[in-house]
Amino acid sequence: MARGGQAALIMVGTLINFTNYAAQVRPRIEAALERYTQFDAGCPAPLAEAIRYSLLAPGKRLRPLLVLMSAEACGGDPEEALPAACAVEMIHAYSLIHDDLPAMDDDDLRRGRPTCHKVYGEGIAILAGDALQALAFEIVARDIRPAATAARCCAALGCAAGPTALVGGQADDLAGHFAGAGLRELESIHARKTGAMLNVCLELGGLVAGADDEQATALAQFGRRLGLAFQITDDLLDVRGSAAAVGKRVGKDSAGGKLTFPGLLGIDESARRAEQLVAEARAALAPLGARGQHLDVLVQYVLERDR
Ligand code: IPE
Ligand code: IPE
Ligand code: MG
Ligand code: MG
Ligand code: MG
Repeated sequence: MARGGQAALIMVGTLINFTNYAAQVRPRIEAALERYTQFDAGCPAPLAEAIRYSLLAPGKRLRPLLVLMSAEACGGDPEEALPAACAVEMIHAYSLIHDDLPAMDDDDLRRGRPTCHKVYGEGIAILAGDALQALAFEIVARDIRPAATAARCCAALGCAAGPTALVGGQADDLAGHFAGAGLRELESIHARKTGAMLNVCLELGGLVAGADDEQATALAQFGRRLGLAFQITDDLLDVRGSAAAVGKRVGKDSAGGKLTFPGLLGIDESARRAEQLVAEARAALAPLGARGQHLDVLVQYVLERDR
């Protein structure tokens, strides 16, 4: 797509809007994550340090932002969704710690810092991930009200983090590029390893806000496209991003034999698909009206991001 002056202006405006909005909301997320990781003496110091090192590192916090924004988009109070927002960030942080382990992607840089296992050793890194996963469910079960909503949130989160979604996608991702693999296999891996957790952010926000069927459907359609667009841009950043900006090593996917969008379709076609998906995601927000504007700004940021 040719980018004239007008488009460039719109893009810059979008970036500033998202950056401003996120800058306002992130401190509430950071403070809650901080509060949730004050452990008593039962948690050994190195384990507590490793958990906090990874969870409180400077991530973009897109998933918790999505939870809060989707609650808002359905007319709910984002504050009531804060425990769910923290829980998804905990599952995400655990998945990153494990994803970086030598038995998986074997990475040494994450969020601009040495990976958890490089600092604390593999054993503590594995356990920090385990702890974050358990903590996430404890928080949703205890702090989301009413209890019936908490139960539905736990089930949705467990499904997104489980064997047919995040973990299943990671298992297929590990298997790498195999002969005959095509777009269907690739989309299936991406939808599970990354898309499911982004989708469930929207679902959780909707559950807390008591979304009606039309709102829940709009969120699900938006989330499916956002999830795929997000992992395509992650794959693109691995090819054309810089480690300094992205905060993780680049050029690792092809070296690791991964099945990726740029590997399968090339850079230009991958970028075109991401643009198309973002346009479709934005269109899916229509039933949410003006309340969906922050989700609209976020999904545009996904295209423009350099980290
Ligand atoms: C990276 O996610 C891992 C993927 C699922 C592709 P993010 O790009 O959201 O990473 P952080 O949370 O900002 O570090
Ligand atoms: C990771 O995908 C997905 C999960 C952690 C579930 P990647 O392996 O592409 O993520 P990065 O590039 O290391 O962040
Ligand atoms: Mg990986
Ligand atoms: Mg990785
Ligand atoms: Mg990646």
